[in-house]
Amino acid sequence: MSAAEKKDEAPTTSGTPKDGTKDDTKGTSKDRPKDAPKGGSATTSAFLAACRGEKVDHVPVWFMRQAGRSLPEYRKLREGVPMLESCTRPEMVVEITMQPVRRYGVDAAIFYSDIVVPLKAIGVDLDIVPGTGPVVAKPIRTVKDVEQQLRELTPADVPYVTESVRGLVSELGTTPLIGFAGAPFTLASYLIEGGPSRDHRLTKELMYRDPATWDALLGRLATIAATFLRVQVQAGAKAVQLFDSWAGSLSREDYVKYVKPYAKRVLDAVADLDVPRIHFGVGTGELLGEMGDAGADVVGVDWRVSLSDALARVGSGRSVQGNLDPTVLFAPDEVMRAKATAVLDAGRSARGHVFNLGHGVLPATDPDALKRLVDHVHAYEVR
Ligand code: CP3
Repeated sequence: MSAAEKKDEAPTTSGTPKDGTKDDTKGTSKDRPKDAPKGGSATTSAFLAACRGEKVDHVPVWFMRQAGRSLPEYRKLREGVPMLESCTRPEMVVEITMQPVRRYGVDAAIFYSDIVVPLKAIGVDLDIVPGTGPVVAKPIRTVKDVEQQLRELTPADVPYVTESVRGLVSELGTTPLIGFAGAPFTLASYLIEGGPSRDHRLTKELMYRDPATWDALLGRLATIAATFLRVQVQAGAKAVQLFDSWAGSLSREDYVKYVKPYAKRVLDAVADLDVPRIHFGVGTGELLGEMGDAGADVVGVDWRVSLSDALARVGSGRSVQGNLDPTVLFAPDEVMRAKATAVLDAGRSARGHVFNLGHGVLPATDPDALKRLVDHVHAYEVR
């Protein structure tokens, strides 16, 4: 049975909508049949409601990197197919994106792709090296490099994205699909360094030394990221997440001066699409207020900052997403449950809370632990 069919069969709670629109939602998570899917409809899902700060009947949950190496069915499907090639095969993209949705009953799907896919699509010579990450053949370090290597992205460059998203939307039924892109700073760091970097030394050197190249590069990456997001939403994605994964390497002052304006450009450029915009980075505890202010509806929080502190920094006008330490999935079950409950308790004070990990699922994670975590979150009583 497909996930869509399964969702269509969802028993409703005494005829009331499972979208949180019921006046008295008290006790609904108890009343709900144990095996009832929790996704809700794609326009009134708990995930979308939490993103918008509307009432929910359960705390929605999904995981960054929920698709991927932690799943044996993923490893089997990907055998012999390079990562970037897999992203251009719609039937593979649909299947990989669906795998965690079927297995865990998460409240949202995240599009299977990568932040470097739009760069590859415009002809940047790069690859994703297993165990390492994106590696760029000719690093970009001058305005001339930008002009030569980074043309604008058009929807025609990524027909497989449109096709995959359309396929997914029909397969997903009531579960919303999250589209995503890499934010300008994070993309720039790969392009400038030539690959992953611990200290982002070359990136910051260029940032401080060469404002013209910095502006040309991040400005171009902002339009590429915005187009990549628009393509996904226009094909049917119901929310977007902008990953500024490595922004946490910056001081607040530098973030505001050199990076935030470009993230804001991307988020502003998709504001008219009227889908929730999630903005996330690793180790960004000191930047959370600024990242929200860049134009996010939902601020993603990593585990190094408590969700309560994060709420104070983000403010009451935005929702939050996070923030269980991904290694807690390796802890004894009772420890995992206690830590997840603490995150859920803190999330009660938020305008809206989407439960997630503080960063991606680690490849060694036991899928059964993730399933138990989803069930634990779904069983949590909302007020
Ligand atoms: O469930 C999902 O989140 C799937 C979609 C997804 C992937 N990459 C698939 C992927 C998403 C949202 C990304 C985003 C991404 N890619 C980010 C931002 C998120 C983050 O983790 O902070 C970044 C920085 C990248 C760049 C990248 N791509 C890295 C660092 C790696 C890991 C390299 C490795 O092998 O450890 C990749 C490869 C990648 N992207 C994999 C997957 C499933 C693993 C590749 C494989 O299975 O061979």
